[in-house]
Amino acid sequence: MAQSAVAGAEGPGPAERRPAPFLLVVFGASGDLTRRKLVPALYSLDRKGLLPERFALVGVARRPLGDEAFRSGLQEGLRQFGGGEDWTWDRLRDQVFYFQSNYSDPASFRDLKALLDRLAKERGVGGNRLYYLATPPEAYAGITELLGAVGLGGDWGAGYSRIVVEKPFGRDLDTARELNHKMHSVFREEQIFRIDHYLGKETVQNILVFRLANGIFEPIWNRQYVDHVQISIAEGIGLEGRGLYYEESGALRDMMQNHLLQLLSLVAMEPPASFDAAAVRDEKVKLLHAIRPFDAHSALENVVRGQYTAGRVDGKPVPGYREESGVAPDSQTETFAACKLLIDNWRWAGVPFYVRTGKRLARRATEVAVVFRPAPHSAFRNTGTPALDPNELVLRIQPDEGIGLRFGAKVPGAAIRIQDVDMDFSYGKFGDERPEAYERLLLEAALGDSTLFTRRDEVEAAWALMTPVLQAWGRVDTPEGMSGGSVGNRQVALSPYPAGSWGPSQADELIARDGRAWRKP
Ligand SMILES: NC(=O)c1ccc[n+]([C@@H]2O[C@H](COP(=O)([O-])OP(=O)(O)OC[C@H]3O[C@@H](n4cnc5c(N)ncnc54)[C@H](OP(=O)(O)O)[C@@H]3O)[C@@H](O)[C@H]2O)c1
Repeated sequence: MAQSAVAGAEGPGPAERRPAPFLLVVFGASGDLTRRKLVPALYSLDRKGLLPERFALVGVARRPLGDEAFRSGLQEGLRQFGGGEDWTWDRLRDQVFYFQSNYSDPASFRDLKALLDRLAKERGVGGNRLYYLATPPEAYAGITELLGAVGLGGDWGAGYSRIVVEKPFGRDLDTARELNHKMHSVFREEQIFRIDHYLGKETVQNILVFRLANGIFEPIWNRQYVDHVQISIAEGIGLEGRGLYYEESGALRDMMQNHLLQLLSLVAMEPPASFDAAAVRDEKVKLLHAIRPFDAHSALENVVRGQYTAGRVDGKPVPGYREESGVAPDSQTETFAACKLLIDNWRWAGVPFYVRTGKRLARRATEVAVVFRPAPHSAFRNTGTPALDPNELVLRIQPDEGIGLRFGAKVPGAAIRIQDVDMDFSYGKFGDERPEAYERLLLEAALGDSTLFTRRDEVEAAWALMTPVLQAWGRVDTPEGMSGGSVGNRQVALSPYPAGSWGPSQADELIARDGRAWRKP
């Protein structure tokens, strides 16, 4: 990613970025992710000349489907999610195959190996294999073991073998370690590509470009100039039919442990010496290790969890979380989480990072806001100018992607009157076409560049930070519902908030304790 992301137009052109021939094997290929994201991404890469001529996709899943039924399903998905009306399926259609397997039988994986060997010869694809785990996570370890057992993992001499793993990677520190251990018994770390699709987003990659390719921002990117940082991932939507999944997950596992901490590490890490995967990820891991860990007390003090009740979003009434399909009527799953993080290093000592995420909030908005300290002395204090808001730099990740800078300006007239104004850059200036995150990530995996993927120690560091919070919450969950329980003298609760609001009042109190307030994106 290094050169193309950072040097922009000066980076390698499309031809240089086209991967060598490879075979993509997707496990869980009958599912939503394959239709909604992966195949549209492949189509788009193909249209841009970024897919090699010699390529094949083998979809593996348990249900009985033939090649033709599988192809038709993908074509339908393309119409719905990305191919557009001009999609003819001409080039890729004959390069797509289906293989049925129940993942419990080594014999079936030997048959899969035979199919891959045959396709490699017939299609001239050679020995490069990219496996993609797009099943529910409980199947990841078993599939990896079987790949190893039939000689499809590790280094096999005929080409590369790599494995892409979807989120979630573990449910807590122990399960993430266990999965890492199992994957490492078959693949080396360089062969494992753990997805955090936020890293595939253009605007997320731009955080580093903005910080490090411009001489004017990095000198003020520290405790001397920054008062605090707010990172928000707000969703307007609810569960979208994924109630069963979300009940097991919740906002902390679904968003905070991965996407929010990824955004935080890109915003706060030290500049890497170079833009290769090792240097960038070393710095991210160092940053994660510098975040002050939670204990049972501070987890309750500094983290708020909420759950939405019925309300109105975009003027329409929506049900509460506990009324959603697949959700228990006394569910204790959080749909909102907010926390205050402190980073114990020279750059950020004393600068709080407030992060929050939630479903059914007032509107969809993902942004990073860097809020600066006020001017050290106000020369205009005697002019009757009211106190101004602090300068703010806002990196808008989605939607309305762009960057805004707020500062005070003199209102024209005889008197000194100062008003906040905004300087704004919109990504629309580059045109409408921005590659989808999955397009970029598939390309990087095929090129073997793991900069945009999370490393073993990174994923474990993120879980090490968040697992004590889950443990603290586990202790306070009570069967009687939202009333919560008590730890020591402290009354703790799952805080309700109406759908369409900005979250529970406890989140406002969390930041108000420090004399600050959340932005309303
Ligand atoms: N959908 C998205 O937009 C999205 C976004 C981010 C991450 N993800 C992650 O990507 C993975 C796949 O997501 P998805 O939405 O495509 O899931 P999905 O539709 O629920 O499942 C994918 C496929 O896996 C197979 N499957 C179901 N249960 C299984 C089990 N216990 N063992 C083995 N295979 C099983 C099913 O096919 P068969 O029954 O035919 O085998 C199903 O079609 C998940 O880990 C998810 O967290 C998805």
